[in-house]
Amino acid sequence: MTIQENISLRNYNTFGIEASAKYFSAFQDIDSLSELLRTDICKRNPRLVLGGGSNMLLTKNFHGIVLKNEIHGILLKEEDEMHYYVTAGGGEVWHQFVLFCIEHQYAGLENLSLIPGCVGASPMQNIGAYGVEIKDVFHSLEAINIHDGTLRSFGLEECEFGYRESIFKRKEKDNWIILNVTFRLNKRPVLHTGYGSIEEELDKMNLDNITIRDISRAVINIRSSKLPDPSKIGNAGSFFKNPVVPLEVYRNIQFHHNNAPGYPVNEHEVKVPAGWLIEKAGWKGKNMGRYGVHDKQALVLVNYGGATGHEIYQLSTMIIDDVRSKFNIELEREVNII
Ligand code: FAD
Ligand code: EPU
Repeated sequence: MTIQENISLRNYNTFGIEASAKYFSAFQDIDSLSELLRTDICKRNPRLVLGGGSNMLLTKNFHGIVLKNEIHGILLKEEDEMHYYVTAGGGEVWHQFVLFCIEHQYAGLENLSLIPGCVGASPMQNIGAYGVEIKDVFHSLEAINIHDGTLRSFGLEECEFGYRESIFKRKEKDNWIILNVTFRLNKRPVLHTGYGSIEEELDKMNLDNITIRDISRAVINIRSSKLPDPSKIGNAGSFFKNPVVPLEVYRNIQFHHNNAPGYPVNEHEVKVPAGWLIEKAGWKGKNMGRYGVHDKQALVLVNYGGATGHEIYQLSTMIIDDVRSKFNIELEREVNII
């Protein structure tokens, strides 16, 4: 176990923000992490767990220790008549894990193809895309308590998953490091083709029998056409959550824009795409020089090169203020602000 000092985090966050960590250490297994957590440096300083850095905005240098999860390994732990129970180390790259499952005919993760980041972060905000969230295939996870080093397993109910939410962002915030996650994947695939343009994309592919690999390809095509590739343009995906608003607020928007998109959540509430609100407020494609709003997806803020996290944060505040004044809707940031 080594602890490095004054490390640049620029290559560790997909926004490509230049910021430093006072201390930095990577761990490859539970024992080395336990040892790390017992060091004085870990006990006396703030800690930041890092996966792929694809859902964070670094607004300043981090005056504590960054703990980089590099626990690898994928294991078929168990199977029954209907399911495979597959465990992946928290440091596995999410998309590589999805491809591994597709390769082995473990069905259920294909709609979540090409999401950046690592397996260990996937339960943090219950990652979701194209009609599937990990809660739909989640079985359990193992975590270590950051304060006293105890190990604990969390089942589905205990994670309290919601839309871009889990217990790890709320009650248990900053208490646990997720070591590995077990997914309950299907032997007989249940295909989810209902979301947005998946059906259309599959039609273009002109297939006889649709497989989980085809769904993955369709999702990859759609995502590549509208989301910026972080290796080319710094970003962290959707910067805001899609707000859930009372029906009256949505009706009022519809009164002024009769084509306003909205998805009923229940009898009284509607989820409105934040991308639509931000676009209508005039921010889509806004270029502020070193940073701005993506021109194909208004929900994505981008670093064209050399922007500071503070500048991007300020842009997000301007957008929140403007959407509030124009639509009476409060946008909430999805990205973790560090
Ligand atoms: P990081 O950014 O490293 O960490 C995120 C948070 O989790 C931080 O608070 C960190 O401290 C904590 N954390 C990380 N690992 C652990 C661990 N092992 N234990 C405890 N805490 C931990 N998200 C979606 O849900 N759906 C999408 O469709 C989607 N599309 C995206 C597209 C692009 C182009 C980008 C850049 C991002 C997208 N995201 C999406 C967001 C992001 O990819 C996910 O949130 C991903 O799960 C973050 O993983 P990470 O390893 O990069 O996490
Ligand atoms: N829209 C616009 N203008 C835009 C962007 C979107 O009008 O610039 C409207 C359109 O009406 C479109 C609707 O928003 O039909 C939905 O757009 P899209 O399908 O691109 O999805 P989204 O709601 O913008 C969400 C997730 C994404 C996820 C996709 C696909 C959130 C905050 N974002 O985006 O997740 O990949 O759906 O399921 O829920 C992420 O979390 O980082 C992320 C990228």
